Amino acid sequence: MALDTEFVRGQFPAFDEPSLQGHAFFENAGGSYTCAPVIDRLTRFYTQRKVQPYAPYEASRLAGAEMDEARARMAAILGVETDELSFGPSTTQNTYVLAQAFGAWMQPGEAIVVTNQDHEANSGPWRRLADRGIEIREWKVDPETGHLDPAALENLLDESVRLVCFPHCSNVVGEINPVTEITAIAHAAGAFVCVDGVSYAPHGFANVGRLGPDIYLFSAYKTYGPHQGLMVIRRTLGQMLPNQGHVFNGDSLYKRFTPAGPDHAQVAACAGMADYVDMLSAHHDGPSGKPSERGSHVHDLMRAHEIALLQPLLDAVKDRNAVRLIGPSDATRRAPTVALALNRDAEAVAAELAAHGIMAGGGDFYAGRVLDAVGVRPEDGVLRLSFTHYTSQAELERLLTALDEVL
Ligand SMILES: Cc1ncc(COP(=O)(O)O)c(C=O)c1O
Repeated sequence: MALDTEFVRGQFPAFDEPSLQGHAFFENAGGSYTCAPVIDRLTRFYTQRKVQPYAPYEASRLAGAEMDEARARMAAILGVETDELSFGPSTTQNTYVLAQAFGAWMQPGEAIVVTNQDHEANSGPWRRLADRGIEIREWKVDPETGHLDPAALENLLDESVRLVCFPHCSNVVGEINPVTEITAIAHAAGAFVCVDGVSYAPHGFANVGRLGPDIYLFSAYKTYGPHQGLMVIRRTLGQMLPNQGHVFNGDSLYKRFTPAGPDHAQVAACAGMADYVDMLSAHHDGPSGKPSERGSHVHDLMRAHEIALLQPLLDAVKDRNAVRLIGPSDATRRAPTVALALNRDAEAVAAELAAHGIMAGGGDFYAGRVLDAVGVRPEDGVLRLSFTHYTSQAELERLLTALDEVL
């Protein structure tokens, strides 16, 4: 069964918003539109439940219950235990806190592997641990393609490596990294793995339990939700690392790595992402069993739609003079996050596209290391065209026409 994009778009008020008419959205990797169930829950929370949660009066009980519901339902979709999922202000802050925990747990001389493919969020906080005597080893991309070769990781591993950090897919290369294979390589060498899933999660929630990493992070404001970072930390690792939260919260796994007070309304509204998955699954005759099965069903529907739209875009740009496509030209191997190096200021090209009703961005997207590695000039940056399952065929055609005008 194919994804019903009309039904999908009906769940996003942005598509009915008069001020957005005539503008096709191709900067989804920066942040997605928000689905109605999330907006409805946020509104309800702020109007009916905006009190200190978990106290013994009704508004407070409902507030706390909704926050718990969000964690339980999202954890179930991700295929992990409820207390293995926590919410923080953003993925960047979540990795920062994790890096503090690893820094306290590790001994000088022990090592962490980072990539030069990652967004700065899953790179900088780990690299700074060099100040504490931790050795940082860089797993480098192929300078032609931006590809991360798992075989090259093996050469970096030995008994001193405690952690391997890498992205599920980069926010500019777009190639989907084989998380399970890489995790197996790291685990065999005795290292934990931390996966930045921010660029992958908008294209379908992964079953993190099955995928296998010890840590998996993503940002809800890119997965149709509010501005929160979601972080899975599997129990063995989470209990072993030192508590970074209030001392009295140390026994609660989901509170150990979120020292900030939670944003109650936004945590609660994350349940709207689970509503959205369930709604899509039901509309497309999905399985009635486990939430993770509904998540997988919706993931596959999204992927199939995105791949069908993505291949014509890749075909249209890959052989064009003066355009360099970063990452694979086969849609099945990548997310619909397409970075183009143009040998001129990409932001200026994005501005030209805006005049044609295309919302896109240019720059380094906080992934300067990988652009540098593949030889993109920092002053040019890349034009990034990113879409999701709610993007229509008509919008894609509009993009192709606009690209013909400006490239
Ligand atoms: C791949 C990737 N990782 C991490 C982040 C940082 O996420 P946050 O804004 O939640 O800190 C981003 C944000 O754009 C990203 O694209």
